[in-house]
This record gives sequence, C-alpha cells and structure tokens, in this order.
Amino acid sequence: MTLSTADIRQTFFDYFKRHGHQTVSSSSLVPADDPTLLFTNAGMNQFKNLFLGTEKRSYTRAVSSQRCVRAGGKHNDLENVGYTARHHTFFEMLGNFSFGDYFKQQAIEFAWKFLTEELKLPKEKLLVTVYTEDDEAFDIWENHIGVPKEKIIRISTSDNFWSMGDTGPCGPCSEIFYDHGEHIWGGPPGTPEEDGDRFIEIWNLVFMQYNKQADGTMEPLPKPSIDTGMGLERISAILQDVHSNYEIDLFQSLIKAAAEIVGSNDLKDKSLRVIADHIRSCSFLICDGVMPSNEGRGYVLRRVIRRAVRHGYKLGADGIFFYKLVAALAKEMGDAYPELVDQQPVIEKVLRVEEEQFSKTLARGMAMLNDTLANLDGDTVPGEVVFKLYDTYGFPVDLTNDVAREHHMQIDEAGFEEAMQAQRARAQQASQFGADYNAQLKVEHETEFTGYTDIDGEANIVELITDNAFTDTLTDGQEGVVVLDSTPFYAEAGGQSGDSGVLKVAGGEFVVADTQKMGNAFAHRGIARGTIRKGERAEAIIDNTNREAIKKNHSATHLLHAALREVLGDHVTQKGSLVEAERMRFDFSHFESVTQTQLNQIEARVNEEIRANHALQTELMDLDQAKESGAMALFGEKYDEKVRVVTMGPFSVELCGGTHVNRTGDIGLFKITSEGGIASGVRRIEAITGEAALSYVQDQQQLVDHVAGMLKTDSSGVIDRVTALQEQARSLEKALSAAKQKLASQQGADMLANKIQINGVNVLVSKLEGVEAKALRGMMDDIKNRIGDGVVLLGVANEGKVNLIAGVTKSLTSKVKAGELVNFVAAQVGGKGGGRPDMAQAGGDNPAQLEAALNSVNAWLEDKL
Ligand code: ALA
Repeated sequence: MTLSTADIRQTFFDYFKRHGHQTVSSSSLVPADDPTLLFTNAGMNQFKNLFLGTEKRSYTRAVSSQRCVRAGGKHNDLENVGYTARHHTFFEMLGNFSFGDYFKQQAIEFAWKFLTEELKLPKEKLLVTVYTEDDEAFDIWENHIGVPKEKIIRISTSDNFWSMGDTGPCGPCSEIFYDHGEHIWGGPPGTPEEDGDRFIEIWNLVFMQYNKQADGTMEPLPKPSIDTGMGLERISAILQDVHSNYEIDLFQSLIKAAAEIVGSNDLKDKSLRVIADHIRSCSFLICDGVMPSNEGRGYVLRRVIRRAVRHGYKLGADGIFFYKLVAALAKEMGDAYPELVDQQPVIEKVLRVEEEQFSKTLARGMAMLNDTLANLDGDTVPGEVVFKLYDTYGFPVDLTNDVAREHHMQIDEAGFEEAMQAQRARAQQASQFGADYNAQLKVEHETEFTGYTDIDGEANIVELITDNAFTDTLTDGQEGVVVLDSTPFYAEAGGQSGDSGVLKVAGGEFVVADTQKMGNAFAHRGIARGTIRKGERAEAIIDNTNREAIKKNHSATHLLHAALREVLGDHVTQKGSLVEAERMRFDFSHFESVTQTQLNQIEARVNEEIRANHALQTELMDLDQAKESGAMALFGEKYDEKVRVVTMGPFSVELCGGTHVNRTGDIGLFKITSEGGIASGVRRIEAITGEAALSYVQDQQQLVDHVAGMLKTDSSGVIDRVTALQEQARSLEKALSAAKQKLASQQGADMLANKIQINGVNVLVSKLEGVEAKALRGMMDDIKNRIGDGVVLLGVANEGKVNLIAGVTKSLTSKVKAGELVNFVAAQVGGKGGGRPDMAQAGGDNPAQLEAALNSVNAWLEDKL
C-alpha cells in the first residue's frame, strides 16, 4: 500500500515519539519575534533560543512538521520553482531536534534507521555527504552505520555548513541523498552534474555547534545540539514511487484542480506546477497574517501571487482563477492545518482582490514584453524595459526574469537597479523633509521615567538644545529641548503621543508642547518663559487632564484590539495605532468591509468590558513567559528580554509600555466615530472615549432634537416626519410638472392663432416666455398635431441662453428640413444644433438677437416653399 503524504507525516511523528521526542506543532510562517528572519524557513526557527541556551523548556527532544517558505531572504527557491522536480516556495519540513541532549552519533542512527527500517528504503539507493573537516561524522557513517566509503562524500562548501541566517545557530551538517536512478540526468553531490534531478537530498542533519555573530565570528553554543530537516514532499515522492515532488498525491490533486479551473489538458505543464506550488505559499502566508503590499513580507507575497497569475495567463486562463484553488488546498491540507479551513474565505478574498488588480495591467505588460523579446538584439532584456514593466505594469523583476528565461534570455539587472536608483533620487528631491532635530544630535544621558505612578516630580536639567545645538541657557521666547535625568513626561512611543505640561525653574518656566525620545533620553520640546539653565533643578508637571484623556484612549485601544479579534476573527492583527488625548486610531488587517452590525457588536463588547470595571494589571516579565500567558505581541516587533504586560481582566493581555487607566470603568464610554479601508487589506477605526465620547453623543442628540424641533415632533417622530415630507415633495413635483405641461399646451393652442400662410403653407414662428427648454419638444409635438401641414419655429430665451426648436410636418420635409431651419436661426444667436428632418433643436448664447433672428425666418422660407 502506498503511503499518503499525511500517513508519512504521522509515521515520522510516531517514530520520534517512541524515542522520547515531544511533538511540537508548526509555528507561524511569520517569525514571532525574530527580525533577522523574513519567513520561517526551517523547523529549527521556533527553537532558536533553545539552541542558544537563552530559553529552557520541559523537554530536550522535539519532533515537528514545520510549514516553511523559502521565497525571499537567505534561503530563496522562488526562481527554481517550475524548473526542477524538487523546489518549492512552500514546503513542509519534518524534523527531530535535540537541545543539548543527543548529538552526532545518535542523530545519524535515528535518521538511518527511520529511512531503512521504518520506511524500508533500500540502503544501496542512499548516499551521504559530510562537511570536509568532519572526520567524526565520516567515521560514524562508515564504521558505525556501515555505509561504504565511496558513498560518503566530503563537501567543503557552505552546502554542508548550515546556518539559519546571517547570524544565529549554525554548524556542520551531513546530508542524506536518494538516487532516483540512471534514467534521470544528474550526478552525485560535489560533481558538476549535481544540480540534476537524479540524486536528491532528502534529509539534512545539522550538528549545531555555533552562534554566528554579525561580524562573522563563531561563538560556541552552550551545548552541542541537533537540528534536522527532511522535505515531506521529497520523501513522499520516493515512497510513492514517483520521481518528481509534483507527482505526489497532494500535488496531483492541486494540479488537477488548477487544470480544471484554467481549462488546461496537459497535467505535466510547467505552469500548472508553478501554480500548484504558489497557491500553497500564498494561502499559508495570508493565513498567517501577511497581506500583499509593496514592501517586506507583503511584497514577497505579492510577487508570488503575480507570478502564479502570469502562469495562468500563459495557460490561457479566462479571467480571475487563482483564488479558486484555495478550496482544493483546504481539502488537501485542512486536516493537518485546520487554520487553513477557518481562514479560507479571507484567503480567497485577498487573492481575488490582488489578482483583479494585477489583471488590469498584465495583458498590456505582456504585450510590451513580448514585443521587446521579439525585437531584441542579443539575449538581454534592457534594464529600462524591466523597470518600466515594474513601475508601470506592476511586474516584479523575478516575473520578468521568469518570462525571459522561458525564451532563453536574461534581464539586465544592473540596468534595472540603475533605473530604480534614478527614480529614488527623483523621489527624494521631490520630498523636502525638514531637518529632524533628534537625527542631528546624540544625547548620552539616560532619563528615568517616573510617569507610571507620578504626574510631577523634581529633576535635574542635564541638557539643553536649541537650533540643533547644545546650549547652556534658553532665554525668554526661545524654542528648544530640555533633557532631564528623570521625568514623569511620557515620550511618544508605541503609538501613544508624548505628554505636554510645564517645567518650573527658579528663573521662569519651560512650556512643554511634546515629549519625544532621543536615544535613551527624553526630550521635552517647547518654549522658554524666562531663563532656563543647564544644571539647575526643575519641577516637572505634566498636563494631567491631557494625560488622563490619553490613558483612557490607550486602554480602550487594547479593548478594541481584543474585541476585533473576538468579533471579526483571529486573523486581525494590529497594523498601527495612534493614541492622543482627543481620539484614538487603530489600524488592523482585515480583508472586507466591516458591517454596521459588526461595528455595533465591537462597540458593545468594548463597552461591556469597560462596565466590567476590570482592575488594570501591569507586570514586568520575561518575553517568553509573557508569550506563554497569551499576551498579544506585534509580529516582527523586537522586544527587550523584559517586557511589560498589561492585563485587563481575562479579556485583554498585551505587551505595552504605555500609560493606562487604573480600572477599565475609568474609560467611561467608548464610541466609534469612523471605520474604513486605508490600504489593501488594512482597515482603520477611529474612536473616542470618556468626556469626548460623552460630548459627541450629546452633540448628536442635540442635532436630532434640533431637527425634531424644526419638524415639530420629537426624536422618535423624526423618521416618520421626514418620510412624509419626502412623499409630499414628490407629489408636489408631479403636480407642478403636469401643470406646466398643461400651460405649455395652452400656450401652443393660443399661438396657433398667429400662424400665417406662405405660398399656401401654414407657418408659425413664435417667441415664447417662461417655457423651460425641456418642455419645448412636447409643445412642438402638440402644435404639429394641430397645424395640419406646416412649418413651425419656436424660440425662448432663458438666463442668457437661447433655445430653439424647429418642426416640419412630414409632407413638407422634401422642401424644408427642420435641421436647416433651426441652424439658420441658431447661427444668428451664436449657436448651432441639429436633429431629424421633421424635428430639430439648437441652442445659442445671444438672446439679444433672438427677436431679429425670428423675424428673418419668413423671408428665408419664402424661397423654399
Ligand atoms: N535546518 C536544517 C535545514 O533547513 C535542517 O536544512
């Protein structure tokens, strides 16, 4: 019986569990607190601190199946996807780990036995590599395991020295390869043909020994450890007796689904493989909170989506297709990753919006690129073309490269970089940033913050700054910065604005408008009244009314964050916040609009937690301890080892350095004032609290009362009254329009009395008063019906404009055309017009000439009739 991918994952877990390993679930693709890493790219990432010895857990052996993305950063396989049988942007890495427990010999033994005894792979199909200098590993393989010498290959390159990134845990490694057989091109590792698909690395055993520093030095780890990684897709291919990863059960299902959606028949098409690969990385990235954008992780995601969309276009996909594959993926992988199923609607929406956006420029960009490729001298796409595709059509560089590669051409990357630089320089010139005072000066002092508990206090003035230079005094009226050795003033951080207030000194005071950080010092910015001297004592007093309002808004932000996750889902993450005295603003990831019902619910939940009047607790903890307590931290944000955790009952736990109310009840009232999208996948809520919220509600009430007063009813009667008024207005409009028509028709009838005869034909030329232009046609129809055979011309002057209409009964159109007649008149009043032979209209802008123009008609008609 063939093992499915899911069976293989389970067999791996079971085996290592039997050997004392703790099963640990996959961590997010977005490394929670590791700014050195773009995406989780190996099973060991979540254990980094265990290797470094800065973290301890209850176990020293672990096993996991980790979702990994290698589409950017140090380990990047994006460009290989579609070109080899074994590369992916997303894959699952099976791994067993030892944190100072077993080392080389046992790691090698575990791996060998799992492959040859548990999975029963034929030994003769396996070969291994070791790092050149690692005689110990060589010896274990040869003498302990019994692998023939010629099948143990020494490799001197970084291929056999694994490191997580430019810094961090690393060590020599030993890799196990599988020989897929002579019929496939490729050579063993270390030979010129090693990049072929015959010998495929399936398992990497890393002997973790060092912590690589930024300057390149290698610090030994506290204890030698083991990190291993086996590609689930690669081992599945072997066990399912296929050569390419894309032929395993999981990929075949995705490829079939893709083929059906884009209407393709060739299941071996490279583009289908690319799409099947990319739907996995894109879906899991979105599932883990990444949104397409123009920078960082978001841009990698955007690039992968666009690459997939381009391959669909190549296959002739008719319209938006990529998002439709999420369902197939959820079916394949939803058991192992239930979050994928939970997030399916969000993922679909994000992909769909992104695809729709790119589709707008894709065809035009492709036309330009194909044109360039067809007319190219040589084999390199010029940098300017690559740049134009990037800048105008949204083609990521790797996408253009992918297309060029299909045509056996390359792109001029240096030329592209040059064009980018030139654009950056232009952009920089365009934006004139003023000098940032704290970018200019380095303040050595460290200010102690006393403001969690105090609102005033005495301190020493340790530095004065004005005009970007240190000074000894600030004189009356001078603007500048005062640095104190301790202060109750909060310096802007974490979205909370800096405090204002006053610093009192012997010879005057310094009015603080804002407080900002300069290094570890707090800079009080403001203006001197009297003289301020460096070295003297100051009494620092914050504007507490202001601070109290800020506190309410800040605590409400935490409640809002928790309520958003409760009402909209766990995909909501904070994307930014601003906490001021007057209001708060909270940006968060969410890919559809928030309905009014949801908004009401969110507002109600926050207010409920306010009324629960939780006592606010703040505690300094180790970062890990904080995370274990479930505290919400910001993705990718770097925190100190010791963090401050702010807790409000069971509802909200967040890492935060800001100032907060004592009890949630202090917030009083929370009111949302606006909600809307601000960028793709990011929404913003603005809200107010406390007194501001109360006056807002009062203002709204007053407004309604005022309107009710005008309508002579009370607030509950407003809607009925307005509806009645609207109906009344509608029926009055109707009556008015009927009356006007009647009047016009009456005028028409009166006018008929003025008709004359020219050569036996009825002619009526008339200047009307107070008739609207839009009523002219109806009038003309009316007159024509009554006049028998005849020619009619009506003119009216309204507000500096002339409107003319000519009518000729059918029997006479061979002699006079309405269009000619109306134009004859229009020409005299500064206009022109047109229409059918029996009815034509025109305008003009010279009413003074209307009378004379009308008088000229009879003579003109005499020639024609
Ligand atoms: N961390 C090792 C790798 O990714 C196992 O290859």
